[in-house]
Amino acid sequence: KGVKVFAPATVANLVCGFDVLGMALHRPQDLMSVRLRDEPGIVIQHTDGYQLPVEPEKNVAGAALLAMLEEVKEPPGFDITIDKRIKPGSGLGSSAASSAGVVVAANHLLGNIFSNEDLVRFAMNGEKVASGVKHADNIAPAIYGGITLIRSIFPLDIVQLSAPPLYVTVVHPQIEVRTSDARQILRKEVKLKDAIRQWGNIAGLVAGFMKNDYSLIGRSLEDVIIEPVRSMLIPGFDEVKKNSKEAGALGGGISGSGPSIFMLSREESTAQQVEYVMTEVYVKLGIDFKTYVTTIS
Ligand code: HSE
Repeated sequence: KGVKVFAPATVANLVCGFDVLGMALHRPQDLMSVRLRDEPGIVIQHTDGYQLPVEPEKNVAGAALLAMLEEVKEPPGFDITIDKRIKPGSGLGSSAASSAGVVVAANHLLGNIFSNEDLVRFAMNGEKVASGVKHADNIAPAIYGGITLIRSIFPLDIVQLSAPPLYVTVVHPQIEVRTSDARQILRKEVKLKDAIRQWGNIAGLVAGFMKNDYSLIGRSLEDVIIEPVRSMLIPGFDEVKKNSKEAGALGGGISGSGPSIFMLSREESTAQQVEYVMTEVYVKLGIDFKTYVTTIS
């Protein structure tokens, strides 16, 4: 007995909502196949050529599944095959896709005994393996779909947000930024005036999504705390942002911990124009890159 799942890429933070906001994308997606085994144990195989560990405790999918099986009486064994199309270290939730995909698949094979919230809790163990910290802003949208707010992770409090139709343009400059490094460089303290600006933006963004107010969404896509530090790791960042806005994007910023950059647009034609200006920047810089024009999944 087995099941195949497509696990979506996700954009964490949505600029101002560090560790609390995230959205799922239609592209790219990982493909996973999860099968019950006759014997106990977890056997993991990667068919994507990435040199990722396959020992269950060191593999993000393995760690997520182990956490789940701790709560199952007489757990069965599983064979997991992962075809990763979301590049690790891209800022597009590659580790979350593996962790979320496996727990959704295993839950299905076990007769859907766990809630989505349970699945987020298990999958966060995969994020812990990947970056040393449990955060749910990629996991929750990967499991629930759409845009999610993680109001709290201990205890988990996940809120699904509605949003008007939006096009998402992503550019992934082919350099690797490790989430753990991108977290380490952050300042541990925040000035009150920056905090006020940031929570104004988060509230504005959530209100903009719920009220279908494109202009409010655009105005709220501003990050005065994380982006000024992390953007230094991403060549071409300022130019991509400036040119994309001039091309008509509502706004955007670093996807998760980077190096991918995402921009939101109201029209598909604008999103394609944004792809064009992103391409121009990286061709000029001589840095390999990949782009996606997609929608919220
Ligand atoms: N919120 C996390 C971070 C997401 O920005 O470090 C990592 O993908």
